[in-house]
Amino acid sequence: WRMSSHLNPSDGVSMEVCRAKGGATGLRVAILGAAGGIGQPLSLLLKMNPLVSTLNLYDVVNTPGVTADVSHIDASAVVRGFLGKDQLDSALEGVDLVIIPAGIPRKPGMSRDDLFKINAGIVRTLCEGIARACPRAIVNVISNPVNSTVPIAAEVFKKAGTYDPRRLFGVTTLDVVRANTFVAEVVGLDPKLISVPVVGGHAGVTILPLLSQPLQVTPAIRFSDEERHYLTNRIQNGGTEVVEAKAGTGSATLSMAYAAAKFADACLRALKGEDGIVECSFVASQVTDLPYFSSRVKLGRNGAEEILPLGPLTEFERKGLEAMKKELQGSIDKGIQFATSA
Ligand code: NAD
Ligand code: LMR
Repeated sequence: WRMSSHLNPSDGVSMEVCRAKGGATGLRVAILGAAGGIGQPLSLLLKMNPLVSTLNLYDVVNTPGVTADVSHIDASAVVRGFLGKDQLDSALEGVDLVIIPAGIPRKPGMSRDDLFKINAGIVRTLCEGIARACPRAIVNVISNPVNSTVPIAAEVFKKAGTYDPRRLFGVTTLDVVRANTFVAEVVGLDPKLISVPVVGGHAGVTILPLLSQPLQVTPAIRFSDEERHYLTNRIQNGGTEVVEAKAGTGSATLSMAYAAAKFADACLRALKGEDGIVECSFVASQVTDLPYFSSRVKLGRNGAEEILPLGPLTEFERKGLEAMKKELQGSIDKGIQFATSA
C-alpha cells in the first residue's frame, strides 16, 4: 500500500488517506454522518468487514480525524474522508451501499417524531445526492424518525426518477437485536439461538415483536402473559431506556452501530450473491394495508427480493398490529407530505 493525497479538502476526492492493493472485487460503501456517535463505531466495524474494498466517510464536521484514525486499522478496505456538502457527490460516486446515520438524536422527554423538523431536511438533502451520484446503490436509513425518513427518501427518489423500492431499507435491526437479548435473558439461553421477528415500524407501539415466533429453538418457547407484556414493553421502549440512561448525552450508538453493521453485512453478502439471507427491515410493503412496514425480507443481488408473510399471529399480536396502524400511517403520511410539498 502507499499513502496518498493526505487530508487535502480541495482536491475533489479529498482526504484520501490510504490506498490498499487488491480489494478490486470488494464492495464500495459510504457512511453519511460518519463522524457521529453511531457513525464512528460503524466506520470501525465496516472497515473490518472483508467484503468492503472502499469505505467513504462523509460528514459535515470532523471527518479528517475519523478517517485518519480508522484508516490505520490493518484491514484491506481503503478509507476515504469527505467533508461538507460540496464533497457529498464525490463521497457517493460508484458506491454500492449507502448507510445514513446523519441527524440529531433524542434527549430525555423527546419522541423520535420530535427529531422530524431537523432530520427530515438532512435525509432529503442526502438522498438528493444519492439520486445524482449513485442512483442504483442500496440505501440503509438509520436517521430518525425512521417511520417518516424512509418515505421521505422514497419520495426524493421518485421525484428524481430513480426510485427502486427493492433498494431502500429503514434499519430496524436494533429492535431485533434487543428482542433477541431480552428474550434470551428471560429464558436463560444464548441470544445467538434466538431470532425474534420484530414487525411494524421503529417507534413506541409501532414496534411489534412477534414473540410467538422466536424460531430456532426446540421445544418452542412459550411465554406467560406476564412475560409477554414485560418483553413487548421493554422491546418497544428499548430506545428510551438508553436515552434516559445517557441523561441528555444522546441515544443508542454502540448497539446501533453493531445492528447497522449486521444489517449492512447482510446487504453486502446478498449483493455478492449469497442465498437465503433474511432480515427484518422497514420497506415498501404489501403485507398489510400500510404502504411501508417492517417485516422479514429476503435479500438478493437487487435488494429486497421477497417480503415474507407475517405468519400466524396470536390474538395479542393481532391487537398490537391494529393498535399501531394509525400512528404508523400518520408518520408515513407526514414524511410523504414533507417531501412532496417541498
Ligand atoms: P450524533 O449527533 O452523534 O451524530 C450525527 C452525525 O450526523 C453528526 O456527526 C453530524 O455532524 C452529522 N450530520 C448532521 N447533519 C448532517 C448532514 N447534513 N450531512 C451529513 N452528516 C450530518 O447522533 P447519533 O447518535 O449518531 O444518531 C444519529 C441518528 O440515528 C439520530 O437521528 C438517531 O435518532 C438515529 N438512530 C436510529 C436508530 C435506529 O434504530 N434506526 C438507533 C439509534 C439512533
Ligand atoms: C433507538 O431505538 O435506540 C433509536 O431509535 C434511538 C432513539 O431515539 O431511541
